[in-house]
Amino acid sequence: MSKIIKSDFLVIGSGIAGLSYALKVAEYGKVHVISKKDAGETNTSFAQGGIASVSKKNDSVEKHIQDTLIAGAGLCHKDAVEYGLSEAPERIKDLIGWGVKFTKDDKGVYDLAKEGGHSKHRILHAADLTGAEIQRALLSKAKANPNIEIFEHHLAIDLITEHHVLGNLQSAFNICFGAYILCTKENCVVPFQANYTILATGGASKVFLHSTNPDIATGDGVAMAYRAGVRIANMEFVQFHPTSLYNPGKRSFLISEALRGFGGRLVNGEGERFMPKYDKRAELAPRDIVARGIDAEMKKRNEDCVFLDMRHLNSDEVKSRFPNIAKWCQQSIDKDISKDLIPVVPAAHYFCGGIMTSLTGQTSMQNLFAIGEAAHTGLHGANRLASNSLMEALAFSHNAALKFIRKRPRNFGTVIIPEWDESGIVDEKEWVLTRHNQKEIQNIMWDYVGIVRSKKQLNRAKRRIQLIYQEVEDYYKKSKVSGELVELRNLSAIAFLIITSALRRNESRGLHYMTDFPNKSDKFLKDTII
Ligand code: FAD
Ligand code: SIN
Repeated sequence: MSKIIKSDFLVIGSGIAGLSYALKVAEYGKVHVISKKDAGETNTSFAQGGIASVSKKNDSVEKHIQDTLIAGAGLCHKDAVEYGLSEAPERIKDLIGWGVKFTKDDKGVYDLAKEGGHSKHRILHAADLTGAEIQRALLSKAKANPNIEIFEHHLAIDLITEHHVLGNLQSAFNICFGAYILCTKENCVVPFQANYTILATGGASKVFLHSTNPDIATGDGVAMAYRAGVRIANMEFVQFHPTSLYNPGKRSFLISEALRGFGGRLVNGEGERFMPKYDKRAELAPRDIVARGIDAEMKKRNEDCVFLDMRHLNSDEVKSRFPNIAKWCQQSIDKDISKDLIPVVPAAHYFCGGIMTSLTGQTSMQNLFAIGEAAHTGLHGANRLASNSLMEALAFSHNAALKFIRKRPRNFGTVIIPEWDESGIVDEKEWVLTRHNQKEIQNIMWDYVGIVRSKKQLNRAKRRIQLIYQEVEDYYKKSKVSGELVELRNLSAIAFLIITSALRRNESRGLHYMTDFPNKSDKFLKDTII
């Protein structure tokens, strides 16, 4: 019989959202942080450009709000934007207090970068390894806290709701009691019973063939919430980063937008600069515009990639500002970023949609919260401004923690949580076929649900994904659970959610571009909710 582990706070995810929340609530109870791989394997660790927060006199929170609203193309929730961006400067102090070291200039003043869509230099960074520095500091604080226990290689399978539990629950409806967690090293499922469950599971960009994200980004939190009947919003708004390194067959690597902020230009195979043709802000237009510009240029010229050109800039300055990117390019493709053209292509990067939450992280289910990239707070609207996501994760995790501190959610008393049903078979032959579905999902999503969409392509994708979804569900029901199977199941749910949402939006807005509806329409000036 597997033991039940009881938590006050069950935090699923060990990135910036999960860890910063854990650090804030630890003095109020036992916090269990669940991480499906090593705790440092997160999107957070890969962040390069930095974290946006107003800190200079020539800038203002109002300007940051304006830039965010413009990028969001009418779908930002103004209260979320105002809350998040006004909160940012204080929350940066939290990071510094936890030991994060941002880069300073010779005078000891924080160096601020500029990225697409920002009207001012306001991005704090730690060279080009900002996320790794944040992850390092938060993890070391969390590990040192006696009230926080981190469970690595533990993968949440599904939420435990009133449908699973036994007990006196006549008045209980739509409540989360924790989650079933698979220990992937020992291959056993442990129920974690929690007063409060917090989904901080990050993004889902691995649903696309080309992505800047590490393998953990399979949308597990969103898929679990969806299966439990929780509201999900705006899944059609997937951000494609314009410049991931073009290195076919090799691990993906981001070429930060900060290089364009530093003066880098985009050129095609002929060496012609093309972005000014598409937008007057050229390389520093918001990402949707730059990604579509690159996509159009590649299609028009039938080329596999475009190039980032830094050759006109001071070579020493480029290398000292971007040491990690310089090293990676030298080692992986034998290019010197200050002297050679760097081949780049767009790749899936970030989900603006996710589990619908209030400003305090509350989902549509009692005692279930969502924070970070897994959540939809409404801050990003139809397109996220660069470097606003680390900031959003930090600001809303803080508010979710405050909510608990000010007014504790209802506790539903004693319930009995049944053990996980371990029965099920392992049919190796069928699994070999079923696991092929992952590549198929990624290909379908890349080919039909990518940067440029149409009704016809989306319907084609829908028919194929529905078949796969059903096949995976059927296999899941009769099989012994495994990490790979859980992720495949979640990816098929994510693909379904994106396509369903995209088909409901007959317009082009922000990151959602439809060739058959190329303009915005006021009819769609609202969230897509599933
Ligand atoms: P993550 O940091 O992704 O953490 C998710 C956690 O959830 C992981 O610990 C994972 O193991 C865990 N998890 C997931 N599913 C399960 C499960 N089923 N069971 C148990 N654990 C699970 N944003 C910026 O603002 N500025 C930047 O410069 C920037 N650069 C980026 C560069 C790259 C290459 C990438 C990929 C993203 C970048 N972003 C940037 C986006 C930003 O990094 C993410 O949005 C942010 O880090 C998300 O934080 P998070 O805490 O929500 O999730
Ligand atoms: C980058 O460094 O280009 C990524 C920034 C972001 O995604 O916010």
